[in-house]
Amino acid sequence: MTATTHAAPGEKTPSQRRVDAFAFDVIGRINQAIVDHDMTYDEYDAVKQWLIRVGEAGEWPLVLDVWFEHTVEELAARSRHGSQGTILGPYYLPDAPELPAQTALPMRSDEPGDRLVLRGQVRSLDGTPLPGATLDMWQAGADGYYSGFHPSTPEGNLRGRVRTGEEGRFEVQTVVPGPYTIPIEGPCGELCRAAGWSPWRPGHLHLIVSAQGHVPLTTQLYFEGEEYLDNDVASAVKPELVLSPAEEPGGSDRRRFSESYDFVLEPARS
Ligand code: DHB
Ligand code: FE
Repeated sequence: MTATTHAAPGEKTPSQRRVDAFAFDVIGRINQAIVDHDMTYDEYDAVKQWLIRVGEAGEWPLVLDVWFEHTVEELAARSRHGSQGTILGPYYLPDAPELPAQTALPMRSDEPGDRLVLRGQVRSLDGTPLPGATLDMWQAGADGYYSGFHPSTPEGNLRGRVRTGEEGRFEVQTVVPGPYTIPIEGPCGELCRAAGWSPWRPGHLHLIVSAQGHVPLTTQLYFEGEEYLDNDVASAVKPELVLSPAEEPGGSDRRRFSESYDFVLEPARS
């Protein structure tokens, strides 16, 4: 390969050496897979057209977040302390409304789905409670759709930045999110069908928990008994992240659940 660089041959910068090593390895492994699987020209053309369609359909963020982000996260988690995290995914939007410690996420007056109260405490690694911490939360509704990405969901639905109160505590009313399928009309869905893979993720809450002087935690919470917990297309479920909410008695039209979950943040290394 020809390098366009100011460095003399053999004098690569550390960054060039890292890009060289990684890109060379990736290209080599793909070439080896072509050999190992005896790829034909027809198959090569099909893959090429699929890759082009992924770009045209704007599905590269989806491809990366579903099939690769979990590995980067697992690597990063090795050197992190505190609560478990998992992938960010493609549906985070910044600047959700700020909400007090006892609150409800913005939702439709007739928001479908079972009700959920999530309460808990944000603490530092040494146990110090963190008042004024932020839980930036977003989730799909019971229908599995995210606001900002689906035309029938009102803007800002089920998104909010909750500020912890005294003793770092919070209590958020929301709905139980439904299972989510990656868009199945586009090239990613096409790949799932072609390979016989499930396109589903178990229902989940997304959170970025942050506090002054601490490393922000990007995580998701799942629900015991949910379909797809063991077959998440994005491979992002961890046992520590699975909730078992208790059902409150007396739910009439909707079931009501509540659960406690605490978050432990690692102090930032300065
Ligand atoms: C994807 C969607 C999610 O809701 C998520 O949490 C992770 C990944 C995706 O479609 O890529
Ligand atoms: Fe998600």
